[in-house]
Amino acid sequence: MAITDKALDGRVALVTGGSRGIGRAICVALARRGAKVIINYAAREDAARETAELVNAAGGTAALSAFDVASGDAVTEAVKAIGKDHGGLDILVNNAGVAINGLLMRYKDDQWARTLQVNLAGAFHCARAAASLLLRAKERGRIVNITSVVGESGNAGQVAYAASKAGMIGLTQSLAKELASRGVTANAVSPGFIDTDMTAEHLPEAARAKLLEQIPLARIGLADDVAHAVAFLAGPEAAYITGQVLRVNGGLLM
Ligand SMILES: NC(=O)c1ccc[n+]([C@@H]2O[C@H](COP(=O)([O-])OP(=O)(O)OC[C@H]3O[C@@H](n4cnc5c(N)ncnc54)[C@H](OP(=O)(O)O)[C@@H]3O)[C@@H](O)[C@H]2O)c1
Repeated sequence: MAITDKALDGRVALVTGGSRGIGRAICVALARRGAKVIINYAAREDAARETAELVNAAGGTAALSAFDVASGDAVTEAVKAIGKDHGGLDILVNNAGVAINGLLMRYKDDQWARTLQVNLAGAFHCARAAASLLLRAKERGRIVNITSVVGESGNAGQVAYAASKAGMIGLTQSLAKELASRGVTANAVSPGFIDTDMTAEHLPEAARAKLLEQIPLARIGLADDVAHAVAFLAGPEAAYITGQVLRVNGGLLM
């Protein structure tokens, strides 16, 4: 069931990696609450355009912004343009991410560097670039970082991914402390296993069945399950919640 009130009316949100999967669902969930949504993507303009249509159909207003979160300069330039074109920025959702998996002993330096650069440095770049706009938004200012259950528990074959996601939790808590004096909050949402391109690519059928046995709610999550949590944290009801990790994992980790 979606939150469809208009509590985000007039607010501008930037969702990184909004073209597909969880990011797309977040864009739509924020739009249902009335937000103007800037959809960031890296390569898939076709998918980003589809998200924009869904955002408009859901009652929000969509705009696209292509940049690689791994590049600090590209992020700074893009966020500056967003602030100028849309009159500010109230909500930043750091969702863009990559999963480059492999066992420790065969894992390459460039795989490690790219994973950390997109997932962790990407969130840092966006938070740094958006900070002055968010502080100007005061009590409306929100950062929501998408971490992962494996950032809290670790996972074989995911050393870099898990480290990047664990790092996002420390980043979130530090942002929460730095930005709190102006009423801006920073929280993380920690999904379990969610049905998207990312898991379709990395989770073979046999592993999926085994995983289901470990999930008390006995199903793989939906992108919407995560998006609803983000839409809540982005709204006025969550004004007194900061520095927290909200787990959306069907009970996989408690
Ligand atoms: N799926 C899960 O089970 C799960 C569980 C826990 C956490 N998460 C996290 O949730 C987030 C979304 O995951 P997902 O499953 O929806 O992934 P996905 O389906 O693979 O989508 C990834 C998104 O990130 C964008 N992206 C990738 N690299 C980027 C970059 N360098 N700059 C800007 N955008 C970039 C992609 O843009 P393009 O379309 O342009 O390629 C796409 O929109 C990730 O942070 C992931 O780690 C996922």
